[in-house]
Amino acid sequence: MGSAVGMVCAKKNSDCTGTIVLLSVSPLQRRQGIGKFLVSHVLEWFFKEGIRSVTVATQKENTSAVGLYGNCGGIECCSSVDVHLWLGEDAFNDPENSEIPNSRPFMSESGKHHAKQVLETGMNHTHWQYGPKCEKLLEEELGAKKCLLTTSGTSALELSALAVGCVAGDEIIMPAFTFVSTAAAYVNHGAMPVFVDIRKDTQNIDETKIEAAITSRTKAVVCVHYAGVSCEMDVIMSIAKKYNIFVIEDNAHGLFGTYNGRQLGSIGDIGCLSFHYTKNFSCGEGGALVVNNANLVQKSMIAWEKGTNRYDFLSGKVSKYYWVDKGGSFVLSELCAALLYGQLNSRDNIQQSRLYAWNFYHEKLKSLEDGGKLTRPRVPPGCVHNAHIYYIRLKSVESGERLAASAKEHRIGIFTHYEPLHLSAGGQKFAKISGKCLEAVDCSKSLYRLPLWVGISHTELNKVVQIILAALDG
Ligand SMILES: Cc1ncc(COP(=O)(O)O)c(C=O)c1O
Repeated sequence: MGSAVGMVCAKKNSDCTGTIVLLSVSPLQRRQGIGKFLVSHVLEWFFKEGIRSVTVATQKENTSAVGLYGNCGGIECCSSVDVHLWLGEDAFNDPENSEIPNSRPFMSESGKHHAKQVLETGMNHTHWQYGPKCEKLLEEELGAKKCLLTTSGTSALELSALAVGCVAGDEIIMPAFTFVSTAAAYVNHGAMPVFVDIRKDTQNIDETKIEAAITSRTKAVVCVHYAGVSCEMDVIMSIAKKYNIFVIEDNAHGLFGTYNGRQLGSIGDIGCLSFHYTKNFSCGEGGALVVNNANLVQKSMIAWEKGTNRYDFLSGKVSKYYWVDKGGSFVLSELCAALLYGQLNSRDNIQQSRLYAWNFYHEKLKSLEDGGKLTRPRVPPGCVHNAHIYYIRLKSVESGERLAASAKEHRIGIFTHYEPLHLSAGGQKFAKISGKCLEAVDCSKSLYRLPLWVGISHTELNKVVQIILAALDG
């Protein structure tokens, strides 16, 4: 009998989780793929047994072990001693025949644990403990004056309209290439969106075209950090200062991305976040208002609590709360906040896993960019992105149609993104346009988003790249 070169001990627990108790490879046999062989087999066994959550007895600091386990799906570290793995649904399915969606929400084990606690204790009060915990974490990370969790990114934008005091006749400058909520939120409060074209390289508002859109009615400029890559904030902030207008960052995409070392969402007067299930950090539906301008804190808190001073009541400053100003029902439920808290605490691992996929596409598609078939995302100097979206811009409508047809045939979620808002029925009814916005129109036809989520497997990434190469090469 030959001598053992390695061993793995695994345990299926009664709560449908798994534990890898020991992984050991003989010192003489290391770096030959034996560890990977053993781990892949044991994870495959777990997967067949219906287990999606695995604890590994290794240290978070042991980066080579964490990397090895990480090859099998998304990783989440819940403590300094254990590594908790999340097994990607498709990691062990037949890669030839399974669907590859455009995005897939990541559900952290700690989030589930917190949510269970809310359910078991019955403390599903508004803003009990997880809401304030998420807000504190975001305030500290972003350096914000105040952070308020909301029911969605859309409601955070609506809240920002109330916070800056939007009234009928106000004009709000924004890019023509964005989600409908960026515009509708201000229209709902009487203001008129003014669309400006986007930059060809980042798909962000073209900062050189903002000044021409400013009138005596301009209240604010809203900048959208598309795909988590920052707008040119220094220029935008100095224009806003010159004309005394507010800057609102629609940071639905870019949480934990940075601009010259500053967190996105923390630079303007207000930042709006989304925790929709397609975003890097999600709780199904959710969002947050990040208030950076101290003068807007009080008004934001009143509007957030249905137009009352309930916030002062909860902190014991007043004995009763009453109606003081405009407001709505914006506060996120405690159950959603519990899920979100788990995700925010796993931020490094979520980012790492997404970045792996983003970099994979970026490297593999370089030859197509060099060959003039497409352009890849550009991240300007000073910007650090958060791997929210990997997109390509194709050179012709025909090549896009070819790619879309092939992706559909292979059940791969490769999709275009926003329709230009100035051409929409709502845009024509409620908004006006500054300049021609031709780039926004072109971008709506030529930009395609590739599948990207925590735990997307190597096989899946490769399959996406092969489809693109086949559709565009030649
Ligand atoms: C740029 C932008 N702003 C706002 C929103 C709205 O966020 P939510 O879906 O959380 O309401 C989205 C949603 O995808 C978005 O992409």
